[in-house]
Amino acid sequence: MSQEPANPSSHAQSHVHSPRPATARRSPALSGRARVPGDKSISHRSLMFGGLASGETRITGLLEGEDVINTGRAMAAMGATIARKGDEWIVQGTGNGCLLEPQAPLDFGNAGTGCRLTMGLAGVYAMRSTFIGDASLTKRPMGRVLDPLRQMGVQVESQPGDRLPVTLTGPRTAAPITYRLPMASAQVKSAVLLAGLNTPGITTVIEPVATRDHTEKMLTGFGAKLDVTIDTDGARRISIEGQGDLRGQIIAVPGDPSSAAFPLVAALIVPGSDIIIENVLMNDTRTGLITTLIEMGGDITLINRRNAGGEDVADLHVKASELTGVEVPAARAPSMIDEYPALAVAASFAKGETRMTGLDELRVKESDRLAAVARGLEANGVDCTEGHDWLTVRGRPDGKGIGGGTVATHLDHRIAMSFLVMGLAAENPVTVDDATMIATSFPEFMGLMAALGAVIEG
Ligand code: S3P
Repeated sequence: MSQEPANPSSHAQSHVHSPRPATARRSPALSGRARVPGDKSISHRSLMFGGLASGETRITGLLEGEDVINTGRAMAAMGATIARKGDEWIVQGTGNGCLLEPQAPLDFGNAGTGCRLTMGLAGVYAMRSTFIGDASLTKRPMGRVLDPLRQMGVQVESQPGDRLPVTLTGPRTAAPITYRLPMASAQVKSAVLLAGLNTPGITTVIEPVATRDHTEKMLTGFGAKLDVTIDTDGARRISIEGQGDLRGQIIAVPGDPSSAAFPLVAALIVPGSDIIIENVLMNDTRTGLITTLIEMGGDITLINRRNAGGEDVADLHVKASELTGVEVPAARAPSMIDEYPALAVAASFAKGETRMTGLDELRVKESDRLAAVARGLEANGVDCTEGHDWLTVRGRPDGKGIGGGTVATHLDHRIAMSFLVMGLAAENPVTVDDATMIATSFPEFMGLMAALGAVIEG
């Protein structure tokens, strides 16, 4: 991929990991404008769907984080040509149904999205494909994707508990299924829909709780015949017709609201701050954190709202605010699932208690995020209680007594960034044991935060 030729065998990484700590200190008011990198979900899908579609896909604003680069390498290993030219990524796809058998294991590093979606995409092909990843990804459950693939006729070799490494052997012809999601997961929904692309007939996913809809929107843009209806019980029924043509597209990836979460919370809690975060995706399935922070009293104004490439985007004008604890409803979890660590940090500086429920999926992210957040808060003197699927945080608006701890990040980029943000407003510095994983989703984090005035060493 990139400027180098696609040599799949060179892609297997050893995952030798050298942790690099970082420390954030109480900072002066943050100011200025920031542009966060492209949305990770849309970036993965741009390379996948572009790599599959016939003809050329041109992508601007792609997130060049390690997670997305690994997805590009996987697509290159299955026949796509992917190169960066100036500001654009140019993808020549294989054509739907024409992926090639990868000659080496596909290494997804830290990325659940890349791994699980590609299992769906490639698993139903009559070929063998092997999936590997780093220590974090190797601990994560893959059965949620492997179970529906088994129903479609895919043979699975996996480690106990359906963990990586996984080898998939697809049937001569996959069987279409109707699959009701047992958990709120856009990755599982997407994996089944992508498997449906190379399956004759109609594959259907029933989604009782709506999750991010990038797969549906983008596949429709690429020319897939996809239909969404609402069942009488309110569930979304998404049907895709297999073996149709997909054609290359021009894609402008908007800024990632999950990355915007960090400067956003930082500006709210560092006294006197006033910043603008430009070009942030405002898709309703992704804006739960902004809704919650506004309910907490956060001074966040959406300016310059516009539609870009089929998605709503806006600039966020954020000013330091006195926050008050709120009850965050469980129903909101899918629209802010990656943002709970950042919200917990905001709650640490809010008056009163913030109660977050419906957090069971946090247990199976890049780390057990519920435990990692609770331990990080405790290490920094924040009063919190962890339940099996809930968390309460009792804040200190002045930041007094907060900080002074070292946080175990467990190879989780969002834990690292969240606690560095905490250190910017806490009385005492906050250290994270490892900042290297930030490069998986937000390689520019340190520079972007420093440009706003944040004091982070490491
Ligand atoms: C994603 C879905 C979510 C999210 C992840 C990206 C996607 O995972 O946490 O960061 O792009 O589909 P789940 O499907 O496991 O909730």
